[in-house]
Amino acid sequence: MVGEGRHLLKDGVRLRCVACGYVAEADPWLFLCPRCGNLMEVVMPGAGGFDWESARRRRFGVWRYRELLPLSDSVEPVTLGEGGTPLIRIARAASVRVLVKFEGANPTGSFKDRGMTVGVTIAKHLGVKGVLVASTGNTAASAAAYAARAGLKCVVMLPRGGVARGKLAQALLHGAEVLEVDGVFDNALKEVFEEAVVKGRRDLYPLNSYNPWRLEGQKTLAFEIVDELGEPPDCVVVPVGNAGNISAIWKGFRELYELGLADKLPRVVGVQAEGAAPLVKTWASRSDSLVAVEKPATVASAIRIGKPVNWLKALRAVSESRGALLAVSDEEILSSMRDLAVLEGLGVEPASAASLAGYRKAVELGVIDRNEVSVLVATGHALKDPDTISKYFSALSNDH
Ligand code: F0G
Repeated sequence: MVGEGRHLLKDGVRLRCVACGYVAEADPWLFLCPRCGNLMEVVMPGAGGFDWESARRRRFGVWRYRELLPLSDSVEPVTLGEGGTPLIRIARAASVRVLVKFEGANPTGSFKDRGMTVGVTIAKHLGVKGVLVASTGNTAASAAAYAARAGLKCVVMLPRGGVARGKLAQALLHGAEVLEVDGVFDNALKEVFEEAVVKGRRDLYPLNSYNPWRLEGQKTLAFEIVDELGEPPDCVVVPVGNAGNISAIWKGFRELYELGLADKLPRVVGVQAEGAAPLVKTWASRSDSLVAVEKPATVASAIRIGKPVNWLKALRAVSESRGALLAVSDEEILSSMRDLAVLEGLGVEPASAASLAGYRKAVELGVIDRNEVSVLVATGHALKDPDTISKYFSALSNDH
């Protein structure tokens, strides 16, 4: 381990390039492969003595799986009690074999908290002034809350006019410095990348999903599913934007399998909105490079992303798991959102409803069988995006 990372990370943790396989010493500031410039992923040294039975004596949540996370045991986490979210059967909206992992139950209302508890803990340990993120909203809300908890500054770059109201409100509430960038998320991320990676700025720690350490927290979603079901499901359906989460979830399942903590692997199905489906296009055309979407457009603002930075990791997740990538229309997203709400009592934001829309499409296409146990990841809470609810659903109730 090098530099400021000493004592922060477990012995034996490494970073490996997802493209060329180059292996580097663990370093919280290393995001790109020194040899080929691609993204790095964390390689864990082993199970560190983890076993399900003793882990289950701890609180259900991200830190139950401490041995499987790269931070040293002595590091005190910056935590708000993230993870431990419910797994809810949705027989009426889908099938008795379908469960929703309701990530809206996290402290700031989205799965991002799993990553931020790890990422902000690292930032605090590094002694930086603050953290920096580009965001479609949830990353900003989460970074702002965890930075506040850690006594750090938080700077967020948001696409002007492209962030749902609840998320912006959270970022402001927690005292983040909000900078608006013209264009879409991809433009905001480029600015963060320029500051943090190209210019090598060291006062703010960047916590977008090109940071492999943050994704380590997000892999616990897979751990919790296996913990609760006793084994991996047949399929996991995940909405995809910048493609960090699908990569992290797959990494979680793969690690359990490789460590002998699970005896099978699920298929991973990624879902994008039709107007913002760069990965679906890349997958369908079998292209070796990303087929970017210049002007991504969808009602699901969380996944309005045209150049997902983790595209290569995500394609690996889908191909290694023999899964699929599917696109759904905004109408399908909205009707799934309504069905989850009125048939199941589950309030999710539009991007999250893409998982049910994608599941339904996958069943139609024969990609998933209705008898298979499937987990749909509902990534964020309905309250994140009140304007979409008033726009599309108040009109519906007037029809009745
Ligand atoms: N669902 C929700 C509610 C999200 O906020 C995001 C991403 C995703 C799905 C997709 O996850 O990017 O890992 O593929 N939101 C990011 C943000 C981009 O800035 O909050 P991903």
